[in-house]
Amino acid sequence: MDWGLQNRLSQIIKPQNNRALMLAVDHGYFLGPTENLENPKKVIAPLLKYCDSLMLTRGVQRTSVPTSTNVPMVLRVSGGSSIIGEDLSQEEITVSIKDAIRLNASALAMSIFVGSKYEHQTIVNLGKLVNEAEEYGIPVLAVTAVGKELGKDARYLSLACRIAAEQGAHIVKTYYCDNFEKVIQSCPVPIIVAGGKKIPERDALQLAYNAIKGGAVGVDMGRNIWQSENPVAMIRSVRYVVHGNATVDQAFKLYQTICNEKPQQNKPQQNKPQQNKPQQNKPIENKK
Ligand code: 5RP
Repeated sequence: MDWGLQNRLSQIIKPQNNRALMLAVDHGYFLGPTENLENPKKVIAPLLKYCDSLMLTRGVQRTSVPTSTNVPMVLRVSGGSSIIGEDLSQEEITVSIKDAIRLNASALAMSIFVGSKYEHQTIVNLGKLVNEAEEYGIPVLAVTAVGKELGKDARYLSLACRIAAEQGAHIVKTYYCDNFEKVIQSCPVPIIVAGGKKIPERDALQLAYNAIKGGAVGVDMGRNIWQSENPVAMIRSVRYVVHGNATVDQAFKLYQTICNEKPQQNKPQQNKPQQNKPQQNKPIENKK
């Protein structure tokens, strides 16, 4: 593997412990102004220092992320359909490799829709993206998208993950499921688990814990962080699971402690300027 590609991969999956905490804020690319992500800049600002990398679109990166950040960007380069359109699976590559390089992307992300009407198109697009990205030493993360008509069980997800890896994806993002070990065992590249729709905080921590225990290198969580009552407390607690090897009880206790300490400062303000005061209390989780 080329030095540049390996170096970029190590920005996303930390070599010290082979773990990754990605913050997903790319939802608008087909959902528009998703609940609690209406103003990405205000959502991202207080969370940025707690994630290892940010998964986003070029529009959000250019408008809503400070250029001074050293957090690696996982740039979504696929799109072309919307939640109100005919078929979510009809995606193409929408961002050129030149623009990804201008944006200093550490990885490119795209979805494949195995078993859908546009399965062929999205799988071929993945292969072509890997061809191009490898020329520049940029890793590709394939998202095994799920849809109304697509399954979310180990049989389906191991099929989709394996196909992504066979096309050359360097990381696969998928969903947690029963018999998750089957998905892990049959996929030769690292797997990162998506958070999925909003569930109670403790359950989301359980999901992160199960995913790691089951063999995932980390999580790429969106809604369960920024749709939480307390997004900062939530990302710090997820981080405690991913990088601090916390149990669910320990992580949920941290969540509650942070909520009780500084409820005002921890909730990103949608309409007021964010106060980014330094933390007074020493956090117990393994913070960057
Ligand atoms: C959408 C995506 C999202 O980034 C992914 O679903 C992670 O976000 P969430 O935790 O909200 O599910 O790739 O296709």
